[in-house]
Amino acid sequence: MQLYNLKHPEEHTTFAQALKQGLGRDRGLFFPAVIPRLEGINELLQIPFVERSQKILGAWLNDELGIERVKRLVNNAFTFPVPVVKVDERLFALELFHGPTLAFKDFGARFMAQCLSELAENEPITILTATSGDTGAAVADAFYGLNNINVVILYPENKISTLQEKMFCTLGGNIHTIAVSSDFDTCQNLVKQAFDDETLNKSLHLNSANSINISRLLAQICYYFEGAAELQRVTGSVPVISVPSGNFGNLTAGLLAHAMGLPVKRFIAATNSNDTVPRYLQNSIWEPHKTVATISNAMDVSEPSNWPRVEAICKVAGLPLASIEGRAVSEDITAMSIKELYRAGYLADPHTAISAQALRQSLQEDETGLFMATAHPAKFKDRIDRVLNTDLDLPPRLSDAAKKKNLSERIPPEFERLKSYLVQCQ
Ligand SMILES: Cc1ncc(COP(=O)(O)O)c(C=O)c1O
Repeated sequence: MQLYNLKHPEEHTTFAQALKQGLGRDRGLFFPAVIPRLEGINELLQIPFVERSQKILGAWLNDELGIERVKRLVNNAFTFPVPVVKVDERLFALELFHGPTLAFKDFGARFMAQCLSELAENEPITILTATSGDTGAAVADAFYGLNNINVVILYPENKISTLQEKMFCTLGGNIHTIAVSSDFDTCQNLVKQAFDDETLNKSLHLNSANSINISRLLAQICYYFEGAAELQRVTGSVPVISVPSGNFGNLTAGLLAHAMGLPVKRFIAATNSNDTVPRYLQNSIWEPHKTVATISNAMDVSEPSNWPRVEAICKVAGLPLASIEGRAVSEDITAMSIKELYRAGYLADPHTAISAQALRQSLQEDETGLFMATAHPAKFKDRIDRVLNTDLDLPPRLSDAAKKKNLSERIPPEFERLKSYLVQCQ
């Protein structure tokens, strides 16, 4: 697989290198030189998820890694189900939260960890990543206890749910966590500064496991095929797909699936009040506002770092940007959506409720839609209980984590503080 840097197209790299490096020169995102087109999509949609995913990822990676290795990586990473659940005649949830940390991030993080442990050739690596919620848990779980890999995770203090925090800040061992007294965009900038510090980067072999890492995006392509396959089986229709978006990694993967040949009627980019993208899609003016805190905190991002990839895919695949529908959902409407779904017999976390709401608003009479259910509702128990007046049971993974001590370090949003922490935790 060949990739190039979107900021410096003359910089080329392989998958293994992009996996280890994360970002190219000047923080440029790596982008595939060619998007493979899949033949025989209908047959592909008939086969089981893991087997199909081996073929999808094989189309990208077999030339570089070999068929058998790709099969093994997929087998080891995708060890949990991806059900499609009917909410009503036209509305279906693609549940992506049945992995070990109960959010869709498990797909990308587990695949990336498998790839790194196969391809890192025993050189010690520091995974440095920022999370607005669920990446932290997924990355910590996927890399916990792996040899030669140290993990440092930054997150905005008091801006993620307590349970989300407990999921990744209580492990210890090779997992180090830092609460930064600021917002997610600042955490992301601190990570970027560390990558830009060449001496630090070289001495620690820094690697980002953020959704900017191409291995994570490739893994996420696979569940779009599963959702479309199941919807076709049940309803015979091509889906409108609603994606609850923050950093836009998930939507990037969906667009890649579409560019590979997956039939999708249209994509909806659903955001909370951090609505840079829906506004941009409407008036072509890129004007990020200050990030505001919402109950769908993992989407509290106003400068989504994957956006250049979205534009690049649209360009190379000949999809007009205007074919993506942007919809922002306010706090009140999010709460209303949680209630409405609950009345329909479906319990949704706030992020999922946003994707469902945007889909409901957009669907025409003759259309069927999939909304991405990106996190288990119990991960947001406090918020859901408040909206629904319930007392949700926690699944064992969450109740066990909730009892453990938070081991996070706390720092102000200063790069020098992060730098000294990184050096000292080796
Ligand atoms: C539960 C949940 N939903 C949606 C998103 C947004 O996904 P993306 O950042 O890929 O747009 C996140 C991101 O952290 C998340 O944790």
